[in-house]
Amino acid sequence: MGDVANSSAATPVLEQEALDHVWIHTTEWIRLAEQDGLHVFDHAHGSTLVDIHGNEYIDGISGLWVVNAGHGRQEIGDAMAEQAGKLAYASSASYTTVPAVQLANKLASILPGDLNRIYFCSGGSEAVESAIKIAKQVQAMRGFPKRYKVIARRGSYHGMTMGALSLTASRNETYFGPFVYGVYHTPSPNHYRNDFGLEGEAGDIMCANYVEQEIINQGPETVAAVIGEPISSANGLHVPSPKYWQRLREICDKHGVLLIMDEVINGFGRTGKMFATEHFDMQPDMITMAKGLSSGYAPIAGVAVSDRVFDVFKDKKEVALGHLLTFGGQAVACAAALKNLEIFEREGLVQQSAEKGDYVYERLEGLRSHPTVGDVRGLGLFCAVELVQNKDTKAKWAKESGFTSKVDERINKKGMLTRTWDVLHVAPPLTTSKEELDRIVQIIDESLTETEAEYADQIGK
Ligand SMILES: Cc1ncc(COP(=O)(O)O)c(C=O)c1O
Repeated sequence: MGDVANSSAATPVLEQEALDHVWIHTTEWIRLAEQDGLHVFDHAHGSTLVDIHGNEYIDGISGLWVVNAGHGRQEIGDAMAEQAGKLAYASSASYTTVPAVQLANKLASILPGDLNRIYFCSGGSEAVESAIKIAKQVQAMRGFPKRYKVIARRGSYHGMTMGALSLTASRNETYFGPFVYGVYHTPSPNHYRNDFGLEGEAGDIMCANYVEQEIINQGPETVAAVIGEPISSANGLHVPSPKYWQRLREICDKHGVLLIMDEVINGFGRTGKMFATEHFDMQPDMITMAKGLSSGYAPIAGVAVSDRVFDVFKDKKEVALGHLLTFGGQAVACAAALKNLEIFEREGLVQQSAEKGDYVYERLEGLRSHPTVGDVRGLGLFCAVELVQNKDTKAKWAKESGFTSKVDERINKKGMLTRTWDVLHVAPPLTTSKEELDRIVQIIDESLTETEAEYADQIGK
């Protein structure tokens, strides 16, 4: 397979304008400007993105775990256009709209258990902020105004606004402290490098018990909520045993703490179930969702809240939630999400994710013969390949070695998009064909082989 040729026939003006005016979120400007890192995409279909030069890239990570239904769905665009022509917006403070009601109703029917009340937002960070505020207000309204603390897991990712970042903030942030007061971090399930040196389920249960210990240390009367992704992508995609989440449920119930599962990445078929929570046979008090809710066709997110949690607002009729987001439940975004979920049902996308996930996982297992592949993990079309310098010691590649970014660059040159840090992610749209999955594995395989040849003298050190 040939590398993507940069046929600079198309307009370099647009690229210059991008470099001059677009703040691409977390990529160093110099990398974009001097290292061939800038891509300006023009259109897309299925699992393929096409840049302004006509170069095609297979989307190995669905944008950012977003485009679950695949690119180029004209019918979602049509539904949005129709809604925009009819009614785009009504105040989210006091009113709602037909598509918002229909979407909330649909979500209540597919969410686990009695998560029947939806608070709409625009993005994942907002959903997390909202869930934390709901938890604090509900605790106060139940008679526990001192319950303000939140326990998150080290290495997790919950977003970038200050509250969400404070939950994320276990990762040595340099510039943004001090963080929101009262957030504490505990170990996260990890079957490859468990914090307690324990194998499998025993390590998971120890992580859950550690949360209980943290609650006791803080004083249960001060803790509002525990939050975690069912399967944390940021933390390396370790799939915990169901006992982990069941144990956390028991612990939270015992201490009067609310349990929030952050399904911003996991939700909407990514793991082979509609919600990853379903793998664990338990129900949280709240689920945060975003990304796959509209497959990226519109910025929409939400917090699903259980009846038991919402009931306090029925009991104390004079009190409303002190939280308003202008664009929460915007009608055009709701129309996009509704059409997206209709496609999910019509095409059996959740089932496709489960089946294709099994297929690609088996193919990825074949990469273990590489001297730098330490582990392969996954569930549904949510897979990860962990890269190490030394398989025996599980030593990671130092960032300065440049190994993982070289792998990523090669993958990119061969016409595929993903993210490669310690973990290389494989999470294409749920519609990706088996031939495309084969191509994804082949590109990773070749990129590893070539980079390993370049770093031969450092491997195993
Ligand atoms: C688990 C999780 N929660 C929250 C967020 C924040 O979402 P957003 O970037 O839409 O604000 C993300 C983003 O990747 C996420 O992975």
